[in-house]
Amino acid sequence: MSDAPAEHIPVLTDSVLTYLRVAPGDVVLDATVGLGGHALRLGEAAGKAGLLIGVDADADNLAVADRRLQSCPATVRLFHANFARIDEVLNEASVEGVDVILADLGVSSNQLDDASRGFSFAAGGPLDMRLNRTHGRTAADLVNALREEELSDLIYFNSQERFSRRIARRICEARRNKRITTTDELARLVTDALGVHADARASKIHPATRTFMALRIAVNDELNALRTFLEKAAGRLKAGGRIAVIAFHSLEDGIVKRDFAARKQAGQYRILIKRPIIAEPAEREANPRSRSAKLRAAQQTGTPEENRA
Ligand SMILES: C[S@@+](CC[C@H](N)C(=O)[O-])C[C@H]1O[C@@H](n2cnc3c(N)ncnc32)[C@H](O)[C@@H]1O
Repeated sequence: MSDAPAEHIPVLTDSVLTYLRVAPGDVVLDATVGLGGHALRLGEAAGKAGLLIGVDADADNLAVADRRLQSCPATVRLFHANFARIDEVLNEASVEGVDVILADLGVSSNQLDDASRGFSFAAGGPLDMRLNRTHGRTAADLVNALREEELSDLIYFNSQERFSRRIARRICEARRNKRITTTDELARLVTDALGVHADARASKIHPATRTFMALRIAVNDELNALRTFLEKAAGRLKAGGRIAVIAFHSLEDGIVKRDFAARKQAGQYRILIKRPIIAEPAEREANPRSRSAKLRAAQQTGTPEENRA
C-alpha cells in the first residue's frame, strides 16, 4: 500500500440518497463499501436502529472503511467478500431481507493511484490488478499465459478495443524474449502496437486505457460477478426495497439495464430511473471520475397487485 492517505470522493451521492430513500431502522447493504463514503451517509439515514452491512473484495479498503464508519450511528458489520457472495454474507450476518442495496462498481481512486496494485498505466508498478490480493491470477499471469487469440478476444470483448489483434500480437512477440511483469512494460507495448494509427494518436485517452480496463475486468471476473450479484440482490430485497447501481462503462451499465428491465417485465421490479442519472457539470468538474458514472435504481414491487401497478 502507498503511504498517502486513502482518498476517494463518492460520486452522485445526492441522487443515491434521493432514490434509495433510506428510513430509520432500515437494513442497508453497501456491496462495494470502498472507503465508506456512501456507506456513512446511508448509515446516518438508517440511524441508531439501522443496520449497515458493508462488503468489499479489497481488505485494505475495508480497513479504511472500518475506521471511517466508527462515527456511523447504525450498527455496522463489514465483510471481506466478493459481492457475488452476498447470500453467504447475509446468512453470516443472520439477515434475511434487506431494505436498501447499493453497488458503486469498479475501483476507487486510491486503488487506481496506488502503483503497487497495478491498475493504472499512469503509475508504474507490478502488473497485478487483483481487487482481492489473497488469491487468483494476476494480469501478468494472463498476459504471459494466454494464447494470442485468447488475449485478443479478452481485450476485444471486455473493452471493444478495435486494435485488439494488433495489441495481442505485440504482447506475444515481446514475451518471447522476457516475461511482462510491469504496468510500464504493458503500456509501452500497447502504445507501440497502436503507434502507426493516426486516429489512436489523436485520441484524448491514453492508448492503453481500454487494454488495462479489459485486463482488470478479466482478472476480477467483473461482469460475471455483477450478473450473480444482481440475481442474488433481487432475491434478498424486501417488498418495497430499493437497489441502486453506479456503473462506469457501457458493459457494466448494459448488464444493469438489462437485469432491471427483465425484472420489470417479470413484474418483480419497478424502474425508478428511466434514463441513467449522470453527474452535473459542477460534480464532473470537481471529480473527473464522476464523468463516466451512470446511476440506475429499481424497487422490488412486492405483492402481485403492486406488480401490476
Ligand atoms: C468505486 S469504489 C466504491 C467507493 C465507495 N462507494 C465509497 O464511497 O468509498 C468500488 C469498490 O468496490 C470494490 N469492488 C469492486 N468489485 C467488487 C466485487 N465484485 N465484490 C466486492 N467488492 C468489489 C472495490 O474494491 C472498491 O473498493
